[in-house]
Amino acid sequence: MRTPIIAGNWKMYKTPAEAVAFVNAIKDRLADLKAAERVVCPPYVALPGVQAALAGTDIYVGAQDVHWEKEGAYTSQISAPMLVGLVKYVIIGHSETREYLGVTDEMVNKKVKAALAHGLHPIIAVGESLAINEAGQTKEFVDRQIRAAFAGIPADALSNIVIAYEPIWAIGTGKSATGEQANAIIGSIRATLAELYGQAHAEAMRIQYGGSVKPANMAEFMSQPHIDGALVGGASLQEDSFVELVRIAIEAKGLG
Ligand code: 13P
Repeated sequence: MRTPIIAGNWKMYKTPAEAVAFVNAIKDRLADLKAAERVVCPPYVALPGVQAALAGTDIYVGAQDVHWEKEGAYTSQISAPMLVGLVKYVIIGHSETREYLGVTDEMVNKKVKAALAHGLHPIIAVGESLAINEAGQTKEFVDRQIRAAFAGIPADALSNIVIAYEPIWAIGTGKSATGEQANAIIGSIRATLAELYGQAHAEAMRIQYGGSVKPANMAEFMSQPHIDGALVGGASLQEDSFVELVRIAIEAKGLG
């Protein structure tokens, strides 16, 4: 049984004070919803405050990116050793970093290796553009992203990695994939993992869906067999909807 994982990717939202107020407001409400793993990924500057506010709880913190070098002349960047002690997870390869910051498949692979080397747990994001989707090439495209991200990653690291399938055309657009569409692509990601690492490893791997997930469509995604949780942008920014997403995931997976 794969434990569902619901992660809020806050992107460039919330000041440090707002982030701390948010987690203080939800931590007691999430305390009874332990059947799903809950993660919040605030902006870097909010990480120390959020980490302190959540210390002693089983709600985890994630960063939104990481550089592959330990240190160096990389203005604006944050390295894995800098995140140690502040976060458990780190999102790598989010489409917004691929699009706006020029992150390539090769960089994703280097970031994954750096994160793992420092004991951080990558959430590797993959997903296709609208043009690729409409050309019917989603499976091939996502397959290539997965193979590139996992190049040189040993099987014993897999239990520390989560994958997020986020079709770019569904992010922040209000236009989500259907549960069945997302399940089919996530199933094919699992098939690729089975080719790379064998069936048992592929079955154990947690794969989230992301893209306009909200309480109204959460059950549709979570009732799909291959979908193990969600990486959520907009709907993770409000207390009620974040708590509701976690509750619905637990219910849909029959864990509540
Ligand atoms: P939305 O939930 O706002 O569509 O964002 C999805 C996303 O990019 C999560 O990483």
